[in-house]
Amino acid sequence: MSQSQIERLMRPHLVTPETYATAVSPDEMAAKAGLSPDMIIRVNQNENPFGADPDIAASLTDLPLHLYPDPNQVKIRASLSEYTGHPTEQILAGAGADEMIDLLMRLFVAPGDRVLDCKPTFGMYHFCARVADAEVVSIQRDEAFEVDVEAVAREDDDRTKIVFLASPNNPTGNILTEEQTRELLKLGMVIVVDETYYEFSGQTVSHLIPEFENLVVLRSFSKWAGIAGLRVGYMIAHPEIISRLVDIKNPYNVNIAAEAALLATMEHRDKLLGKVAVLLEQRKRMELAFDEMDKVSYVPSHANFLLTRFDDFLASDLYETLVKKGVFVRPFSDPRLTHDLRISTGTPDETTRVLEVLSEIV
Ligand SMILES: Cc1ncc(COP(=O)(O)O)c(C=O)c1O
Repeated sequence: MSQSQIERLMRPHLVTPETYATAVSPDEMAAKAGLSPDMIIRVNQNENPFGADPDIAASLTDLPLHLYPDPNQVKIRASLSEYTGHPTEQILAGAGADEMIDLLMRLFVAPGDRVLDCKPTFGMYHFCARVADAEVVSIQRDEAFEVDVEAVAREDDDRTKIVFLASPNNPTGNILTEEQTRELLKLGMVIVVDETYYEFSGQTVSHLIPEFENLVVLRSFSKWAGIAGLRVGYMIAHPEIISRLVDIKNPYNVNIAAEAALLATMEHRDKLLGKVAVLLEQRKRMELAFDEMDKVSYVPSHANFLLTRFDDFLASDLYETLVKKGVFVRPFSDPRLTHDLRISTGTPDETTRVLEVLSEIV
């Protein structure tokens, strides 16, 4: 097939892209299920099912929308510094943890460099690395989905720049221990520990930053704070990494509404963390219900979701059956997860419905 003029002008590795599979919109979901949008239960994206908090929504009124936001993020970084206990020089915010992943590629990855991830894991590491023209090396996690630290060490060479590790990992929900993190940090590559689900796990390795300048910790406001739609995330890292990223980031990467919502979240965080506790109770309810079901098991999780295995069902079939009942969960194309669905914690009522529907089918 002859190349179009656009293709000839494009960077060659992007002509046949590996696109990122995003979930369908609420309207598409409703149409797929043949139900009205308010009947749909969305437990497929680990979002906060309680919706935006009224105090955060209120912070979005009367903003100076005609002005550019602060490129130096002075208020944001001060607020995150108070929350995390890290100095402002170690903090940078962006449009979700996703933007942080992309910025790290800009800083560290040249075409042909290698980026490692440990599968099954969050797809954006692979996606952003491919866009940066890196070679992605995916190391399989072990049977319990633990990171194979020795296998990562074996891949270390001059061209290998970054290892991405989510903790809790998406979709398995398990944690990278401090001991594993230390072993990996000694290799010298940039070790990115993605703590997007930190508020659910309560576990962090950010205290290792003063000791290891190659450690980067990512966080997000999408899940626990319920503002996925505003795109707020941040990074904690050695001051040199942060200042190098400030040099190359888009100056206005956190918009005025996102800034206001971030500051309001920090102000009302006790209330929001109360909701996190309710979500963790829903995960417990799912665990107890699955313990009672035959040939159903799950990976012990530290996050707001449960990777659940249904031995007698193909996940793709079970997914379709659940869609017809208005329940949207997350299946995977990974060959290791053909019987697994990731189910996010919903509100107590949603969890009741999810469990009702599953027990009817299973
Ligand atoms: C492990 C992990 N990292 C990052 C993200 C993206 O977070 P954000 O919405 O802050 O970009 C997600 C979202 O699902 C995730 O699961």
